[in-house]
Amino acid sequence: MTDVGSREPGAVRPAADAVAERLAGRTPQVAIVLGSGLGFLGDDVEAPVRIPYRDLPGFPDPGVAGHKGELVAGTLEGVPVIVQSGRFHLYEGHPVALAALPVRVFAALGVHTLVLTNAAGGLRPTFAAGTLMLIADHINLMWRNPLRGQVAAGDERFPDMSEPYDRELRALARQAARDARVRLEEGVYCALLGPSYETPAEIRAYRRLGADAVGMSTVPEVIAARARGMRCVAFSTITNPAAGMGPPLSHHDVLEVGKRVGGDLARVIRQLLRHLPA
Ligand code: HPA
Repeated sequence: MTDVGSREPGAVRPAADAVAERLAGRTPQVAIVLGSGLGFLGDDVEAPVRIPYRDLPGFPDPGVAGHKGELVAGTLEGVPVIVQSGRFHLYEGHPVALAALPVRVFAALGVHTLVLTNAAGGLRPTFAAGTLMLIADHINLMWRNPLRGQVAAGDERFPDMSEPYDRELRALARQAARDARVRLEEGVYCALLGPSYETPAEIRAYRRLGADAVGMSTVPEVIAARARGMRCVAFSTITNPAAGMGPPLSHHDVLEVGKRVGGDLARVIRQLLRHLPA
């Protein structure tokens, strides 16, 4: 088994070139990665340029119901953005390098700020289904790291991770939520490989480790972004109390709750964009 080269750093440049060609000189400043049930934000982008994954070298078609497969570039609240609708999850069997590929493409395009969203199970007892959580920090229990192997051009070998989620952006996100009159909690996101949901014993263990939410995404992207010096801010939609803390889990319910509170999260993100430093 060799992992060196499995990060496919070579796929970044051709995909970035393909996107740049479609953007014809426009440069996005902010990338927004949409999680389960949040795909609609891609439809709000003004003057949209839609780029299906099938047009991008190295991007396979995404599989999971509720996930699209396209990048949408344009403006939101006057900010040049590129929205990623459809993620590559490790539980689909994708290498961690592929999960991080879109973020590396954004970095190559000159994007400096990454806004990520995901669906997550809630571990904090006060987190009801529908709670929005700003991610303060994470615990990587995927046991995968997109930086492993050969150093990709422009990446740092040993990036500092003492502030993976930017302090200033988190303060702006809290302010944005207040302005949008949306309640926003803050906590630690624990990333797992999935695709099975956790057992109640695992959830009790993760609570003791300091996790407030569990999910199956986001962390590979944040690690790759930090290695490029991009600033990150991330939100979890708590779609359900985690295993053993509520009724049995279903992917269908996760998508439904994600859609129900997606509008609130979209308003927070739009408000945040209006306040982002240039
Ligand atoms: N566990 C892991 N991932 C999830 C959950 C969960 O309970 N809910 C939504 N994504």
